[in-house]
Amino acid sequence: MKVTVVGAGAVGASCAEYIAIKDFAAEVVLIDIKEGFAEGKAMDLMQTASLNGFDSKIVGTTGDYSKTAGSDVAVITSGIPRKPGMTREELISTNAGIVKSVAESLIEHSPNVIIIVVSNPMDTMAYLAHKATGLPKNRIIGMGGALDSARFKYRLAEQLGCPQSDVDGMVIGGHSDTGMIPLTRLATRNSVPVSEFLSEEQLTYVKEETKVGGATLTKLLGTSAWYAPGAAVSAMVQAIAQDSQKMFPCSCLLDGEYGLSDISLGVPAIIGANGIEKIVEIDLNDAEKENLQTSADAVRKVNGLL
Ligand code: LAC
Repeated sequence: MKVTVVGAGAVGASCAEYIAIKDFAAEVVLIDIKEGFAEGKAMDLMQTASLNGFDSKIVGTTGDYSKTAGSDVAVITSGIPRKPGMTREELISTNAGIVKSVAESLIEHSPNVIIIVVSNPMDTMAYLAHKATGLPKNRIIGMGGALDSARFKYRLAEQLGCPQSDVDGMVIGGHSDTGMIPLTRLATRNSVPVSEFLSEEQLTYVKEETKVGGATLTKLLGTSAWYAPGAAVSAMVQAIAQDSQKMFPCSCLLDGEYGLSDISLGVPAIIGANGIEKIVEIDLNDAEKENLQTSADAVRKVNGLL
């Protein structure tokens, strides 16, 4: 398994670090346009190998895509992150050009690659990657739902006063402050619906805090978060590497599923060696369906800016 991570910033480096620590990839290539940056991060990470006990080789390069040749999976984190007070949608004019050229360069050197898009506005960038490369829809996955669901579980556990390992839950819809749909109705603590333990007020708090999870961190950190985004991507790369058929909510190009087409949006999907193995259509109630439609309308509006 060879993995390329495009962008050696905080998210890219943390993603490379988690992939290395989990030790399922033979090689991780970090590529960045900033002179020496990816080489430096790769060398620093390689010097943790004997300490953290991994054998994965991490290679850095300044813009030389020939080093990425033959990648099985590539993660696109490049572009600018948001600053406090910004929405992810405001990044479109800068990031669209970057994501398009990165996707094209990746395909040129790794025609069989599966691409995971992290750059924001993520659903629109995943859609753009589809349009730019024409890859089959199973081979471009947007990372948002896995991260948003992790933030949802964090908030649920906080309110339940229990470890996160007790909690299960999922966020679907667009990866935006208003588009996310934390499915509190289906969330459980050890198979018991969380509504058995939490009040309406607490559930509303969990939902609202989950939706602004990224914005809350951006305000605290002065830039976009990286540990949880890096961990979420690495979990998805691992599911592909190990053909684990694990279910993640993620941004998939829809073709009639959930009554939507020609849009990349967060829905549950089975992830395995072929990337998106299957989109899972779960029964949503009327309110959830309406929220998904509103979320899709908002993503389409951003897609219209491409
Ligand atoms: C976040 C970025 C990755 O939510 O969109 O932290």
